[in-house]
Amino acid sequence: MKDPKGLTSRRGFLRSGLAAGGVIAAGGASAGTPQGTPPGNPANQPPNVPDWTRNLGEGVAVRGYGKPSEFEKGIIRRDVEWLTASRESSVSFTPLHALDGPITPNGLCFERHHSGIAEVDPADYRLILHGLVDKPLIFTLDDIRRMPRVNRAYFCECAANSGMEWRGAQLNGCQYTHGMVHSVMYTGVPLKTLLNEAGVRSNAKWLLLEGGDSAAMTRSLPLAKALDDVLIAYRMNGEMLYPENGYPVRAVIPGWEANMWVKWLRRIELGDEPWHHREETSKYTDLLENGKARRFTYVMDAKSVITNPSPQMPLNHRSGFTVLSGLAWSGRGKIARVDVSLDGGRNWRTARLDGPVWDKALTRFYFEFDWDGRELLLQSRAMDETGYVQPTKNELRKVRGVNSIYHNNGIQTWHVHKNGEVENVEVS
Ligand code: MTE
Ligand code: CO
Repeated sequence: MKDPKGLTSRRGFLRSGLAAGGVIAAGGASAGTPQGTPPGNPANQPPNVPDWTRNLGEGVAVRGYGKPSEFEKGIIRRDVEWLTASRESSVSFTPLHALDGPITPNGLCFERHHSGIAEVDPADYRLILHGLVDKPLIFTLDDIRRMPRVNRAYFCECAANSGMEWRGAQLNGCQYTHGMVHSVMYTGVPLKTLLNEAGVRSNAKWLLLEGGDSAAMTRSLPLAKALDDVLIAYRMNGEMLYPENGYPVRAVIPGWEANMWVKWLRRIELGDEPWHHREETSKYTDLLENGKARRFTYVMDAKSVITNPSPQMPLNHRSGFTVLSGLAWSGRGKIARVDVSLDGGRNWRTARLDGPVWDKALTRFYFEFDWDGRELLLQSRAMDETGYVQPTKNELRKVRGVNSIYHNNGIQTWHVHKNGEVENVEVS
C-alpha cells in the first residue's frame, strides 16, 4: 500500500484526478472521459451547450412535493423475495451503499411490518395510557403535539439485521447485509412527560406498548427505560412520520432493538411484571448452542460497516485516490473511534469521523487512501464511548454459536478484486 500522504490535500487530489484520465483530447468522446465514468452523450458535454442550458426549465410548484432526480431512480428500498412468505410480514432494506452523511432520508428508511402498513386517520388517532397509574388518560394527536417537545437523532436497528450472515457470507451488498437500520431526527415528547401526567403507581415496573396495526404488536418495556430517554415521536427529519414508519405516532427506544419501537402506537399499560408474549419469547430471544437462550438482549451493541466501496459500489478500475466511507453506531452511547483495515484485519488505521457524533445515532466515517490496484480485504471496527470494541464474526460465534439470527454485530469483510469488483466474504 502506497503512503497516502499528500493525496489528501486538495492539490494532491486534483493531480491524481487528472492522472486518472481527465486529460482533454481532441476528437473521440471516450478519450476525455474520466475512468469509470460512462461516456454519456457528447452533444451535452463541453465544448457543446447541453439541452438543459439551452431550454427553459419547469417552473415552481409544478412539483408540489420534491423527489430525487430521475437519474437516481435506482436508489430505492429493496426486499429479498425468498426471505419471508408475504409482503405484509416482511422487510425492505435501506440503500446504505448509496447514501452519505449521518441521516437517512425519510423515503429510504427500511421498513419492517408484521401485518402491513396501518393507514391511521390522525383525526381518529388516540393514545390510551392506563394500568398502574393514578389517572388513566387518552391523548389525541393534538394533545401530544401541544406538549413540550425535543429533537433527537437515533438509529433504529432490527435485531435481525445481518441475521442471514451468522453461518457465513450470504448476501452481496451492504443494503442487504446491514440495511435494517436507519437514523433520523425525531421530534417528540419524552414518554416521562405523559407518565408524570398520569401519575405512576409505586408498584409499576413494566409497560406494555401496543400498536394499532392488525398485528396489534405488543412489547414489554421496563419502567426505568421509559423514564430515561424513550420518546413518543410524531416527526422524522422535520416531517410527520411516514405511514411505513408509524404515522402518526411511534415509540422511540434509543439504543434498543427496533422491535420494541412500536409503530402506530395506540396503548400503553403499566403493570408490575413483563408481559411474556409468545412472539417476544420465541422470536426475540437468542438461541445459544447449548439450547439455552439469551433473554432481554435489548441493547444493540456497537457495529459498523463500510458502505462504499461495497458490492453495490464497486471501484470499477478506479485505482488511485480513493475515499472509503462507512457508518458506525452503538446502543450504549457515542461512537468514540472507528478503525479501518485494508488487509483483512492484520493492520488497522484510524478513520476520520465526520459530521455530528450523536448519542445512539449513525455516525459517518471516512478513510482516504491511494489504491495501487491490488486486492483488498476491507474491514471496519467500531469502538464506543464505554470502551466496547466491535468483535469479529468468529469471536461472536465462539460465544453464541450460529443458532440465533439476532444481534449479529460482527466485523464485515469486503473483498475488492483487482478489477474493482467487491464481494461479501469472510476471513478466518
Ligand atoms: N410496530 C408495529 N406496530 N408493528 C410492527 O410490525 N415491527 C417492529 C417495529 N415496530 C412493528 C412495529 C420491527 S420488528 C422493527 S425492525 C421496526 O418496527 C421497524 O421500524 P421501521 O419500519 O420504521 O423501520
Ligand atoms: Co425488527
